[in-house]
Amino acid sequence: MVRVLVVGLGTMGSTHAASFAAMENVQLMGVVDKNAKLVNTLAKKLDTKGFASFEEAASYLEGQIDVVSVCLPTNQHATYVKKAADIGADVICEKPLARQLGEAREMMDYCKKKGSKLFVGHVVRFFPEYVKAKAVMEEGKVGEVAVARTMRGGPFPRASENWYANYDSSGGLILDMIIHDFDFLRWTFGDVERVYAKNLAGTTGENEAMKDYALVTLRFKSGVIAHVEGSWAHKQFHTSFEFAGKDGVISYSSAKEKPVVTERIAEEGEASGGVSVPESPLAQSPYDRELHHFMDCIQTGKEPVVTAEDAYKAMEIALAALQSIEEKRPVSLEAQTIQP
Ligand SMILES: NC(=O)c1ccc[n+]([C@@H]2O[C@H](COP(=O)([O-])OP(=O)(O)OC[C@H]3O[C@@H](n4cnc5c(N)ncnc54)[C@H](O)[C@@H]3O)[C@@H](O)[C@H]2O)c1
Repeated sequence: MVRVLVVGLGTMGSTHAASFAAMENVQLMGVVDKNAKLVNTLAKKLDTKGFASFEEAASYLEGQIDVVSVCLPTNQHATYVKKAADIGADVICEKPLARQLGEAREMMDYCKKKGSKLFVGHVVRFFPEYVKAKAVMEEGKVGEVAVARTMRGGPFPRASENWYANYDSSGGLILDMIIHDFDFLRWTFGDVERVYAKNLAGTTGENEAMKDYALVTLRFKSGVIAHVEGSWAHKQFHTSFEFAGKDGVISYSSAKEKPVVTERIAEEGEASGGVSVPESPLAQSPYDRELHHFMDCIQTGKEPVVTAEDAYKAMEIALAALQSIEEKRPVSLEAQTIQP
């Protein structure tokens, strides 16, 4: 039996907690949030214990936590991943791994030193349509791919304390959202050499307009060019891709396929309706598949489909894009400035 604690119960934490509560061989030992209403509601619903802080949970459940799932705002990942490693737990951390590259490397080194496994929720690797497209390309069905286009867009994510609007907390839509596409593209086409990015709204500073739009061009070492578009100015969440090879094209649009898209309705007194996350019509959601996979890796020692190093590399691309916007020039990953 693997005993799990979930920290942060917003959009992602409530998804993780529900998934763990339903898993065989897993016991949801408790849920943590500084918002008492969220804790009480979820603890009651999932028949588990609720805590106001990680420290309170760690003390009450001393010696009874094998895995901590960190679903806090991005700028708090580093602190809580290290606290989880300090109590000897393995860690599942939501993406992006951290706000800055320096702290991401420190988290990885810290977990290694403490003997804690670290998994990062790059969930696109568990979406069947993306996995299928990768397999089709690997089978050579469209020939050598030269150009890739991806799009990911939706409404501005209004979450606790409006933290997505604070660039220092979230990194804007490039670090927060289209990092999903950077990770998928790197998984499919290998390492990136150079990044050029432009944004038309938001991204830096306090985002009062609560809109963000960016276009990022990636040149891969293999020669592939990718155009990655991201928007927090659309009404409905949707994703699309197009991979053009010498012998054909693979394309997909979630808008055309009409998958189920949910937006959490704001409860009375709550600032927001949360982040839109795509919900698959399949029996098992990609989030559930991802968490089952991580649990399997924890129990069997298997190497995960996505490693912490992959999560670091996806951050490298995202932060090079932010640097490119700031400096108005292409940024080579080798010459990238690394913030602590
Ligand atoms: N994989 C995905 O598709 C996906 C989707 C959305 C968000 N995310 C990531 O998940 C993470 C969480 O995002 P979210 O949208 O769920 O945020 P959220 O604001 O909805 O939830 C965060 C929760 O943490 C609580 N909290 C904050 N600081 C705390 C602390 N120190 N102790 C206890 N509780 C605290 C808040 O009260 C809030 O309920 C972010 O890193 C985000 O980038 C991933």
